[in-house]
Amino acid sequence: MSRHSRILGTGSFLPVDVVGNAALAERLARDGIETSDAWIVERTGIRQRHFADASTTSVDLGEHAARRALDAAGLRPEDVDLIICATSTPDMIFPSNAALIQGRLGAKGGAAFDIQAVCAGFIYALTVADQFIRSGVARNALVIGAEVFSRILDFTDRTTCVLFGDGAGAVVLGASDTPGILAAALHGDGSQAGILCTPGRISAGAVQGTAFLHMDGQAVFKQAVHVLERVAREVLDAAGRTSADVDWMVPHQANIRIMLHTAKKLGIPAQRVVQTVADHGNTSAASIPLALDTAVRAGTIRHGDTLLLEAVGGGLTWGAALLDY
Ligand code: UT7
Repeated sequence: MSRHSRILGTGSFLPVDVVGNAALAERLARDGIETSDAWIVERTGIRQRHFADASTTSVDLGEHAARRALDAAGLRPEDVDLIICATSTPDMIFPSNAALIQGRLGAKGGAAFDIQAVCAGFIYALTVADQFIRSGVARNALVIGAEVFSRILDFTDRTTCVLFGDGAGAVVLGASDTPGILAAALHGDGSQAGILCTPGRISAGAVQGTAFLHMDGQAVFKQAVHVLERVAREVLDAAGRTSADVDWMVPHQANIRIMLHTAKKLGIPAQRVVQTVADHGNTSAASIPLALDTAVRAGTIRHGDTLLLEAVGGGLTWGAALLDY
């Protein structure tokens, strides 16, 4: 009997501070930066985002999401033998967020490491965990996406600072006789690193260069609509399914226009697309597990549903996964 991996439980966690578009616009106006609720909603679909306070980190958010996912799976921390955290805003240069979360949970002994593939990070982490489980190296994996992008936003750059928010999501992926994850695909094109990056580096105890997020939004937009459709079709073909088999598309929540455009090209109706970008903004690697958990807890996604996950992010990196929930 072949070995598969499937999602046993989901969890998420958001910081309490909610900042609506109007409040953000007011804050930016104090520094002479002009934006509006109307522009943000029309161009992105975002209405609000959560921002962590100064003392809350991505490990804090990730730990809460992980505990909720474990509860939902009915597992204890000591049952976990692999922790992967997807993040571009870790607490420390090292050790990894995954190791720090492992320490908090008291889940010692298993492997723990971070994956840095920016907004595609959760798909990367899920795919790696699936490989570990199917090969027999791990039995129960915690796959976490946790971000505090507010820390790397330049609040004088209106083209980026209105887009992102903080949050975390997690799934427990466990070994199973039945799939589970049906197909996954990961891709990258490092020649496009410059269109979405946070180029600062640490040297001699200080940040060299800028540690603010930089994005050429239009260039990323063009790439996104191209690669997301292609990678979605790749996983559907690999699993011998079609878009008609997809009950729910759970895309990276960056921009409602990209999400719905991709769905339309795939022939997936908008009502079948999980949409949380209005409430969360773009939470990078956390966005898919956050959207997934939100839909699961709302009773929208049910056991047996076929889900199509897809994301693109800095790198560029992109990927998709098709799974039976
Ligand atoms: O998560 C990783 C992947 N990231 C993405 O998928 C993001 C991809 N890109 C996007 O979602 C979109 O390109 C944005 C939402 C970032 C921008 O939307 P757009 O429709 O591509 O707008 P634009 O960059 O073409 O800007 C249109 C206008 C410009 O003014 P002019 O040149 O037409 O006078 C901008 O200066 O909107 C202006 N603008 C703003 N106006 C008010 C840019 N940002 C703002 C703002 N408020 N916050």
